[in-house]
Amino acid sequence: MAIHHTELETPPGRQPLPESERPKLETLREQLQPLKELPGSSIEALYAAQDLFSYVPPEAITMIAEELSIPESQVFGVVTFYTMFSLEPQPPYVLRVCRDLSCHLAGAPKLIGALEEELGVRRGHTSPDGKFTVEVVSCLGLCDKQPAMLVNLDQHGPVMPDDVPDLLGDLRNGAG
Ligand code: FES
Repeated sequence: MAIHHTELETPPGRQPLPESERPKLETLREQLQPLKELPGSSIEALYAAQDLFSYVPPEAITMIAEELSIPESQVFGVVTFYTMFSLEPQPPYVLRVCRDLSCHLAGAPKLIGALEEELGVRRGHTSPDGKFTVEVVSCLGLCDKQPAMLVNLDQHGPVMPDDVPDLLGDLRNGAG
């Protein structure tokens, strides 16, 4: 049986979804319908949630578990396993650069340095304008695009340090 968002509870210690964001839960519910019969569709469901909210709020975890008939703990486990999903609200752009060996050898450290310099922020932090967070993560599964990075859930690579000003400029102008 489908549950309605008014019935969705927030786990202790997690911030409830702001009232202004709650209408998106119904959009999420609609997007989950085609996934109900698909085994192993929790990742796709979480992509949908992260895309809608820019993070995975607790109410979305509850809804995904209910709609896909899987334990909430299993959905939570997937969220925490994959670095592209976040349990906390994010700035508009989260830049995740792969640090693993192949990307490292292909120039990831220089790419990370260029992002930090251009944004005036250290990895793991949000830029002073509140728009960007730079994260350094393990393999993104984009090993054919080294050095690789994600802008939110969009794949980019290879990205060279010289590409950074244009990439950030496009994002600032809403063209990314
Ligand atoms: S090693 Fe960097 S994306 Fe796989």
